[in-house]
Amino acid sequence: MNLPVSSSTPFGGDYSPEQWPQDVWKEDYRLFDTARIDTVTLGVFTWAQTQPAEELYDFTVLDGIVAEAEAHGRRICLATGTGAHPAWMARAHPEVTRTDFEGRRHRYGQRHNSCPSSPVFRRLSAEVAGRIAERYADRPAVIAWHVGNEYGGACYCERCTAGFRGWLRERYGTLEALNTAWNTAFWSHTFYDWDEIEAPSALTEHWRGPDHTAFQGITLDYLRFMSDAMLANFRDEKAAIRRFSAGTPVTTNFMGMYRPLDYHRWAPHLDFASWDNYPPEDGSPAWMGLSHDLMRGLKDGQPFWLMEQAPTTTACRDVNPVKRPGVMRLWSWQAVAHGADAVLYFQMRASRGASEKYFGAVINHAGRDDTRVFREVASLGAELERFGGVALGARTPARTALLFDWDSWWALEMSDGPSRLVRYQQVVLGYYRALWEAGVDVDVVPVTADLSGYDVVVAPVLHMLKGDLAARLEAVARRGGSVLATYLSGRVDESDNAFLADVPGPLAPLMGVRVDEWDARGPDFANPVRLGEGPQGLVAEARLLFELVQPRGAEVIGTYQADFYAGTPAVTRNSFGAGHGWYVAAGLDQAGVGWVVRQVLDTHGIAGRYPGLPGLETAARVAPDGTRLLFLLNHAAEPVEVPAEAGGLDLLTGERIEPGRPFGLDAYGVRVLREDD
Ligand code: GLA
Ligand code: ZN
Repeated sequence: MNLPVSSSTPFGGDYSPEQWPQDVWKEDYRLFDTARIDTVTLGVFTWAQTQPAEELYDFTVLDGIVAEAEAHGRRICLATGTGAHPAWMARAHPEVTRTDFEGRRHRYGQRHNSCPSSPVFRRLSAEVAGRIAERYADRPAVIAWHVGNEYGGACYCERCTAGFRGWLRERYGTLEALNTAWNTAFWSHTFYDWDEIEAPSALTEHWRGPDHTAFQGITLDYLRFMSDAMLANFRDEKAAIRRFSAGTPVTTNFMGMYRPLDYHRWAPHLDFASWDNYPPEDGSPAWMGLSHDLMRGLKDGQPFWLMEQAPTTTACRDVNPVKRPGVMRLWSWQAVAHGADAVLYFQMRASRGASEKYFGAVINHAGRDDTRVFREVASLGAELERFGGVALGARTPARTALLFDWDSWWALEMSDGPSRLVRYQQVVLGYYRALWEAGVDVDVVPVTADLSGYDVVVAPVLHMLKGDLAARLEAVARRGGSVLATYLSGRVDESDNAFLADVPGPLAPLMGVRVDEWDARGPDFANPVRLGEGPQGLVAEARLLFELVQPRGAEVIGTYQADFYAGTPAVTRNSFGAGHGWYVAAGLDQAGVGWVVRQVLDTHGIAGRYPGLPGLETAARVAPDGTRLLFLLNHAAEPVEVPAEAGGLDLLTGERIEPGRPFGLDAYGVRVLREDD
């Protein structure tokens, strides 16, 4: 099963009428009409209302909310509401609350607060999901099921510990295999009974928070187990829904680059992917592009839903700026450009009280339809309506893949040595940014993805190398492709044990290098790296991590300029089959990363569209009927002039763009060209 069937981009989002008296609902729908909001996500936090006591279900409120949406002809994304459990449940069954990393059993409070291993929680959450499905499954307005909300966090209670032991038995079969995988001969850790195994926490293996562990293998497996335990919660509810609803797709809202959950392990169990886009302070378009592409990669390139974004300000940060005029529209189109087939907000009407009362909403506390935010939402609604369904189901025609791997992320960031300063997301983002700045479409894919269709595969900090990946990367190069890998790659196997081989382990033949030593320095130290020669060359700076490379067949592309390893290679290129393995041995600055990435792209004639216009993003999608869409997104606060490459029709303005003739893009402006054949 795939995305909800639709003939236009669903537009709307989280709506919580349960917080309001009914006369407000009428007014809401009047405003939704004005803004052309056609889709509402209902019931995300209604468990306490739907089930006021263990033996009592009361659908009065949810019935009313669903009926009101139906009466106004809206499409409904209906939630199971299990992202926060009711207070009575925690009182009657203290086991449903979580135990934190420090070992404190929590009492009732907050949300995303349930122990994933609690049999009571698992039973009651599946039951309420089933009841909701049973009641509303045959309503045509319900186009999607929204299970839970933003799964995440972790629990360290005795039930989770028991669950962990069971998970380990299944993974390893014997204690002997487990002892080998965890290298327990170190520090006298040999386990003789499964019940000796503890959850890795502040009370056991950890010493300075979740990233500082004595046994990476144990902590890594606990992260995998916790991800699977929450996935089991999702699957409980999905199975309960499926008993009553055979054909309506099920999702849960992800959070992009969210470290605690391995979304690649989750993805096969969702009918379609969806995520909540709350970019960090800088709101960097490359960060959002990477996140969108990662989410699109979850289901093999199928479009996803933008389940939440803020119409303007957030509330959860220390400082919460408003989105500048035009920015919300720009970011919405950016999501569509990267594969979103729905544009949804959190939230429709601002809560009156509690922690999100200042979180930006389509309708503010005064209920006005003449605020800047409301007007921008309404005009985007009108624009999406005119745009229609032309992009629905459209695919991204990428020739470049970037590998993203939660195991590598976890292993790298909990490693003692060589440097705590090397952060997975930052390195990956640096390489993605270089591709983004080059104007290249990228598929961000798991390490298990089929790589046979790509000319270029970029694999930043591929710390853990699993399965047959090295062979599949070699195959990319052998048939003429390029593989770009970096420092701290090919270091450990899936149990986080070092390869008993020269670094970069299984990648060494492809990269044609050998690394015996690596230097780590503080953020203030930079070693200049000379890249290439003559006017095409560049002197970049490298920081944090410096591997000392001995070429074993590779040619030297860049060299360190300082310290005792001055003159030795920092960047190499190895001929392999008809293609190449590129190795970047140091933490190059963005200019350096950009230089290397351009060399690789040039080899394959993969040209970005407008590399001279740094704030201008381009993204392509090809619709199922072959229609080619080119999205042009100006992230700069000034207008730009763009020379048209191909001719086409701007679907947002109806304007014809002639090939070769320059056209303008406003500050934060967007154009969507249907390219001529
Ligand atoms: C998350 C949640 C929403 C809401 C928003 C805004 O994405 O899913 O319920 O809390 O953030 O903070
Ligand atoms: Zn637990």
